[in-house]
Amino acid sequence: MKTKSELAAEQAAYWNGPGGDGWLAAYDQRIKRAIGDIGDIGLAAAAPQPGERAVDIGCGTGDTTAALARAVGLTGHVLGVDISGTLIDAARSHRLENATFVVGDAATHPFQAGHYDLVFSRFGVMFFADPVAAFRNIRRALKLSGRLAFIAWRTPQENPWGTTPTRAALPFLPPQPRPGPEDPGQFAFGDRARVERILSEAGFHKLRLEPIDRLIWMGDSVADVVAGAGRFGPLARAFANAEPAAIDKAKQAIAEVLAPHEGPDGVRLPGACWLVEANAN
Ligand SMILES: C[S@@+](CC[C@H](N)C(=O)[O-])C[C@H]1O[C@@H](n2cnc3c(N)ncnc32)[C@H](O)[C@@H]1O
Repeated sequence: MKTKSELAAEQAAYWNGPGGDGWLAAYDQRIKRAIGDIGDIGLAAAAPQPGERAVDIGCGTGDTTAALARAVGLTGHVLGVDISGTLIDAARSHRLENATFVVGDAATHPFQAGHYDLVFSRFGVMFFADPVAAFRNIRRALKLSGRLAFIAWRTPQENPWGTTPTRAALPFLPPQPRPGPEDPGQFAFGDRARVERILSEAGFHKLRLEPIDRLIWMGDSVADVVAGAGRFGPLARAFANAEPAAIDKAKQAIAEVLAPHEGPDGVRLPGACWLVEANAN
């Protein structure tokens, strides 16, 4: 079993390497459309107010940071934190007057204590090696009256958009390490009881977890999805060490399994998230 520091180092290397590069390459064309409306639900629940100070954890390319910045206005401020230098460089191109972007590990970043009204994240909090310690650090940043609102994926079983292509492709690709259910990663916050335990142990109160179920847009057509397959996420790791013939077979398998899901609005498969809200006190 890997130690917490090995897991943390692995995540930092991934998001500063292939993970960050892949996310950036696919963001404008695909990811933005796939997760935009779910993020909007999170932002509406977070309800940033003029004059507030907010943090966007794992802010990526900074779109949600920009939305928070618009809402808090020039009397407020937003801090976007991300472990990926690549993605923070992209986020800085928003050139926001009332936001600052820093490269940092939100688990240990020295936030100004008791300073923030709101901590928000869209899919940026599932990658901590020690989530209780990370959320303790995040909670310290909040005022006593502060609040937390984030979006995270539920279990892999509830997210066929993520698992269906991977499952179809993997038999043709070199064996991949299987992350444990509590290892950092995309689906690490799937289990409601685990999320509640992490946040309670970190000192949060009044936890609310609301399921959000949506069809996730994956591309304009099967051919479009297949063309983008392996650019980021678990398949990128598997494709990286595979022979071209094996990749072709894997892509064929993905095309077959996605074909029934193609419609006039493109390829859409079910996705399932938590909207998680909590109070600092
Ligand atoms: C799935 S992406 C989401 C990005 C962004 N929130 C969005 O919705 O577009 C996850 C993000 O979390 C960041 N991340 C992962 N571990 C982190 C950590 N320990 N501290 C800060 N950011 C982290 C990654 O670099 C990546 O940008």
